[in-house]
Amino acid sequence: MATFDILVLPGDGIGPEVTAEGVRVLQAVGERFEHVFNFEQDLVGGASIDADGVAVLPETIEKARSSSAVLFGAVGGPKWDIPTADVRPEQGLLALRSGLGLWANLRPVTAIPALLDASTLKPEVIEGVDLLVIRELTSGLYFGKPQERRVVDGRREAVDTNYYNEDEIARVAHLGFRTARERRKKLTSVDKANVMASSRLWREIVVEVSQEYPDVALEHVLVDAMTMHLIRRPRDFDVVIADNMFGDIITDEASMLTGSMGMLASASLGQLGEDGLGLGMYEPIHGSAPDIAGKGVANPLAMILTTAMLLRHSCGLEEEAQAVERAVMAVIDAGLRTPDIAATGEPSLPTREMADEVLSRLGA
Ligand code: IPM
Ligand code: MG
Repeated sequence: MATFDILVLPGDGIGPEVTAEGVRVLQAVGERFEHVFNFEQDLVGGASIDADGVAVLPETIEKARSSSAVLFGAVGGPKWDIPTADVRPEQGLLALRSGLGLWANLRPVTAIPALLDASTLKPEVIEGVDLLVIRELTSGLYFGKPQERRVVDGRREAVDTNYYNEDEIARVAHLGFRTARERRKKLTSVDKANVMASSRLWREIVVEVSQEYPDVALEHVLVDAMTMHLIRRPRDFDVVIADNMFGDIITDEASMLTGSMGMLASASLGQLGEDGLGLGMYEPIHGSAPDIAGKGVANPLAMILTTAMLLRHSCGLEEEAQAVERAVMAVIDAGLRTPDIAATGEPSLPTREMADEVLSRLGA
């Protein structure tokens, strides 16, 4: 019987509502497959700012470091959205990513047949989409120094720095190639090499690394063109690698290919052990959705699919991960919907009931 320590960071907005359902799913997996999940809960984001004045406490990062995995809800909301504030909820997320060394952000995007009509894109364009974006997560524009606002000669100015070194690029490239090898053997590297020095280095290193993977087809696509191709011919992409900022932008766009952001999971991973497993932080990509927070109507499926990624990448429980994913698909196939994925006039279930439907199909 394996034991896993999970640090739960619900955060803000709908974070707590969906995270509670994720915990219930893990508990059910524990019971049905005989594993022990120990949960500890802590504050992050606006909730942490309100309680402790910082977006995450150093102790919380330490706790995360010594756990098997972190289940993360969402951070942010209008209450803390003050452009000039020194303390912002997002800092909690960034401090965890950086502090835990989680440099690889995996965002799978798979079109779900029964939900094709929920997308604003034409069903025939998104049908069959199955891609995985691997976003670099601990360097680039998010962390490069200087990053500051200052006054020079009485004038306000600000600067961000898109720093990358070859090791940071190479490890993402290797992961991209290795992952592509297990899928359709195609890797798309996104950059802006026609303008940025950091992108030219990115491309150079990706080409160097590619020598070790002759069986994987590599293409380079400029980020502006990529935004276009993603909505024109999304089926053409298999594994996509991108730097921190470009990855942030194209994954929001890619999420729309599935119909709803309410369905997308993500994993942030760092150095993995020999067994391919390691500490990871798992979060749905939909964010805190303050407009529907507290109403019990948020879609819990992204969070539930996120727990499947946690089971797979941090616990090595592939069978259990697939059981969770199958249960979610069974609920969708049964026509059950939360408001965000329901067609106009179609009935919908609230958060808790939707999760109950998944639980009742788990292990079936
Ligand atoms: C994401 C989010 C975060 C990011 C924000 C909340 C800081 O947009 O995970 O994609 O920019 O990385
Ligand atoms: Mg984003």
